[in-house]
Amino acid sequence: MTGPLATRLTERFGLAHPIVLAPMAFAAGGRLAAAVSAAGGLGLIGGGYGDPAWVDAQFAEAGEDAAVGCGFITWHLRDEVLDGVLRRRPRALLLSFGDPRPFAPRVHDAGVPLLCQVQTVADARRALEAGAAVIVAQGAEAGGHGDRRATFTLVPEVADLLAAESPDTLLCAAGGVADGRGLAAALVLGADGVMVGSRLWATQEASVSDAMQAAAVAADGDATVRTSVMDIARSLRWPERFTARVLRNRFTDTWHGRERELRESGADAAREWSEGWAAGDPDRSNTFIGEATGLIDAIEPAATVIERMAGEAATALAARRPDRSR
Ligand SMILES: Cc1cc2nc3c(=O)[nH]c(=O)nc-3n(C[C@H](O)[C@H](O)[C@H](O)COP(=O)(O)O)c2cc1C
Repeated sequence: MTGPLATRLTERFGLAHPIVLAPMAFAAGGRLAAAVSAAGGLGLIGGGYGDPAWVDAQFAEAGEDAAVGCGFITWHLRDEVLDGVLRRRPRALLLSFGDPRPFAPRVHDAGVPLLCQVQTVADARRALEAGAAVIVAQGAEAGGHGDRRATFTLVPEVADLLAAESPDTLLCAAGGVADGRGLAAALVLGADGVMVGSRLWATQEASVSDAMQAAAVAADGDATVRTSVMDIARSLRWPERFTARVLRNRFTDTWHGRERELRESGADAAREWSEGWAAGDPDRSNTFIGEATGLIDAIEPAATVIERMAGEAATALAARRPDRSR
């Protein structure tokens, strides 16, 4: 399969497009991962917090022949969950949010390419020590969890690090890439491809409620906030440096900045948040999405999004290249 944009990522992984699906917990199930891989990208199931039954069900939904990988939240991962997925011979295994080094040998022994999503240059150095085949540099524009660095400076800084110290390690950009302009920009910044979350979350194959997708389509990029209050409501003990970007609503407006109070006496608010989450209600719980929400205006099939993104990026890059044929 060949597409309009060939990069080291497409060559190394046999892809048509240099686009990786972010392994979004809950949202990137087997259906979405399979759709992305079938469209010529690299689909990753969102293994998230590592519920083995859910992950098994998603691999089954993707189908035996689907060339999909899987991603996990590193600080929450257990060896046996990782081993269970590695036995399935996934196309790739992504670790994000935490030190990948303790898990890396198991991934290498299984012969599976290791992808590490990083949020700082120090993280990138650690990912190199772990022997990552691909480093994904994630900026704070991103939906879901992340840290403080911005995509526009983190990506070229990590690109320079890799060029100097590990030129065979590939680089993807994540955070704010939602159309061809973003993909083209990432390649110009030195990436070999992009990892896309929010834009593929807003597709027909994602496991997301209609109400949350409608809220994201209606929102502009000013409507998000990075905060920890959802994790407090869910009793998830994320390391302090990682907050999550979500659509603001009454819950975040009320509790952001009052984390201690929420922890100590917010049981009712937390219960209401969890009920809203179970119902997919964007007013009572929060829609996890990035600043790219302002670039999303329709819920389409994943293949439509991917093909348009690659086509637009190729056109944008060709327009900037001096024509040497004359
Ligand atoms: C709904 C949602 C859930 C996410 N869950 C995870 C996750 O479980 N593990 C992970 O590594 N990254 C997760 N992310 C972050 C993505 O890996 C990626 O960095 C981000 O989506 C890229 O930015 P973008 O949303 O602007 O495309 C999530 C993102 C979103 C939008």
